[in-house]
Amino acid sequence: MQYGYFDDNAREYVITRPDTPYPWINYLGCENFYGLFSNTSGGYCFYRDARMLRLTRYRYNNVPADAGGRYFYLRDGSVCGGDVWTPSWMPMKSALDRYECRHGMGYSRISSARNGLAFSQISFVPLHDTCEIHKVTLTNESNVDKRIDMFSFIEFCLWNANDDMTNFQRNFSIGEVEIDGSRIYHKTEYRERRNHYAVWAVNVPIDGFDTDRQTFLGLYNGFDHPQVVFDGESKNSVASGWAPIGSHRIKAKLAPGESKTFVFVLGYCENHEDQKWEKQGVINKKPANNLLAKYGTPDAADEALAALNEYWKTLLGRFTVDAEDKKMARMAGIWNQYQCMVTFNMSRSASYFESGIGRGMGFRDSNQDLLGFVHLVPERARARILDIAATQFPDGSAYHQYQPLTKRGNNEVGSGFNDDPLWLICGVAAYIKETGDYGILDEKVPFDNNEALADTLFVHLKRSFDYTVTHTGPHGLPLIGRADWNDCLNLNCFSKTPGESFQTTANFESGIAESVLIAAIFVFTGPEYAEICRRTGRNDEAQYAEKAVASMTEAVNNHGWDGGWFLRAYDAHGKKIGSKECEDGKIFIESNGFAVMAGIGVNDGRAQKALDSVKEHLDTKYGIVLLQPAYKDYHIELGEVSSYPPGYKENAGIFCHNNPWVTIGETVLGHGNRAFETYTKICPAYREDDSDLRRMEPYVYAQMVAGKDAVNHGEAKNSWLTGTAAWTFVSISQYILGVRPVFDGLLLDPCIPSSMKNYTVTRRFRGADYHITVDNSAGVEKGIKSITVDGNPHDGTVLPAFGDNKVHNVIVTMGK
Ligand code: GLC
Ligand code: GLC
Repeated sequence: MQYGYFDDNAREYVITRPDTPYPWINYLGCENFYGLFSNTSGGYCFYRDARMLRLTRYRYNNVPADAGGRYFYLRDGSVCGGDVWTPSWMPMKSALDRYECRHGMGYSRISSARNGLAFSQISFVPLHDTCEIHKVTLTNESNVDKRIDMFSFIEFCLWNANDDMTNFQRNFSIGEVEIDGSRIYHKTEYRERRNHYAVWAVNVPIDGFDTDRQTFLGLYNGFDHPQVVFDGESKNSVASGWAPIGSHRIKAKLAPGESKTFVFVLGYCENHEDQKWEKQGVINKKPANNLLAKYGTPDAADEALAALNEYWKTLLGRFTVDAEDKKMARMAGIWNQYQCMVTFNMSRSASYFESGIGRGMGFRDSNQDLLGFVHLVPERARARILDIAATQFPDGSAYHQYQPLTKRGNNEVGSGFNDDPLWLICGVAAYIKETGDYGILDEKVPFDNNEALADTLFVHLKRSFDYTVTHTGPHGLPLIGRADWNDCLNLNCFSKTPGESFQTTANFESGIAESVLIAAIFVFTGPEYAEICRRTGRNDEAQYAEKAVASMTEAVNNHGWDGGWFLRAYDAHGKKIGSKECEDGKIFIESNGFAVMAGIGVNDGRAQKALDSVKEHLDTKYGIVLLQPAYKDYHIELGEVSSYPPGYKENAGIFCHNNPWVTIGETVLGHGNRAFETYTKICPAYREDDSDLRRMEPYVYAQMVAGKDAVNHGEAKNSWLTGTAAWTFVSISQYILGVRPVFDGLLLDPCIPSSMKNYTVTRRFRGADYHITVDNSAGVEKGIKSITVDGNPHDGTVLPAFGDNKVHNVIVTMGK
């Protein structure tokens, strides 16, 4: 069953009933201020760092689900007894005569109605400012006068989200607010070391307020029964300790047909250390005044929204698709790219499955996120690369994670994930291929955030490359360390203690456990490193790199092949993992997808065999599972992978991130039909009418779909923040539709289903627009017969970087 539909022209997903199988969310903000926003107005917001600077409280794992948000309560006095309801359905689960939620690019709009009173709320974060705007309109659709009381409601978080939900002996004494007309200021800890506060304001005079939660709700009431609203009267409570909230009361009289609009702003403001106070105990409100002055009218809010729409139109204009297959076109052209922006911004920090307090930016994750983002805002990708590289250690290894606010490596997790260094090469290569900017290689970048250790970005790449070369095991394959891409393959961990982290525990540092996947990543990225060396005049280094890649390829061929597929690893005792000799975990997806992607075994038939085996053993209706057979028991020598029940997560779940590696591998072999099949299986738009089983948003990828061994095979989890976004965008845009940035320009290399007869892609690339029409009336899966550019025949398949700010019309005719 469907719970909504795509509105492609508006670039929106329209949810038509509020009781979706899980909260279906959107992200507001794309720079420094972010909000998570569900289809029932749930969620929270933060400035830059979801852990350290959270403005509003959210209750993860709450019952009922999705508790905390920006709520509006309405009390309609024209209905006998005063009808109290919440127009976003939650938290009161009010019966609505009408409901719709449109999630768009950086904004969401909820519209509903009950008893002749219509409500609409449009919520977004304006460009360049640090606030959420909620523009609310009430319309009397009945034929009698209406007297409405509207109560706004947000609950402040005491900034550090972790302390906020743990340290109550302190928290319940520190909450402080100030109220000034229609503006409610949250200033907890401002008196001491903080120089920031929050403001929750509305652009009209109010008829009362509350800032103390208990007064507003009643101690034993939930969000669904706020005492003040049912009483119809604000208490003007001033929070002192306990739990500060922000609630305005607005009385509105509406004649039949009349509308009234209000602009609510929830902002983050900072003052210089020496300008914190207006007078003793009174905060300096200048920054809030400046912010609120900009959004004081509905017109100003509309203008800000229009600017945001224009911004997204331009961004998504950099890559567009038109094809008969609308599901593919809307995903590749709109939602997949949108999700790439979100993963770029959030890494894996804040979603409805990531609490915003656990993980910061991942070294491997952020580098991969770049792959799907770099074409949108290359300058931001550049800055990100430099931030990431600064957390690398001088020996080439890296902090696995860093905090977005401080950009410092995270000591709790540390380093030792031996795939990490290679992803930096992968990210930088993608950036250079997109932009042609080799200058980035000369940027001076610290090691371990220490300026004294700074060297050029090129040196960082070299250290990455060398780290792999110098950390190999008995078979000449890379040592795995704590884990490789698969965080749960913890071959040196040997954990017996409940609760111990599988990622950071090393009870048995064997120094021999090896990863075939890291070898494949090396063979995939090594040639890009060599190419970068050659193009910057470092010929000796290029030769050295090519040799290293050749010997790694040999190691994979000699020790990484199991007869029918590529092995996954060798454990701490030198035993094979992912081999027919194993009882469980005989075959894994990652090493097979990546090896073929890297071109290993393409000429001797092994690549073909490997992907055939993947299809035979790992494929399901909903995507390709990570391994088979699932581990039934816990294996101390394997770690977390065997800790999950069969069919979930890394233990034979469909871990979507690695499915596109197989998709790309299939295109390397020229299999357009199969490549597209693997693409569509995990693509959410193709499962829209299966939402009761899938449960997650039909417009974004999920990290995991339960595998065939799980009870709920086909159920998705962990939507939004996943490397699936970037890799599927790479697979569809570069390898299936075949418009691929390379060092020399834009390579055309489609590999599509034979039934796909034509499509167009427009691509903004290094300062020119390419309008590419692909004609496959021949019905092939791969192969180009001819290309014309602006009407003239073009030799070869690489389009030059025209850089002339003009539109170039390219016609690609496929065939033999
Ligand atoms: C999670 C992690 C990612 C890892 C993957 C597989 O998505 O964020 O870094 O590669 O799991 O374990
Ligand atoms: C767990 C998850 C994995 C994730 C890791 C992050 O191991 O299974 O997907 O990457 O935690 O710490």
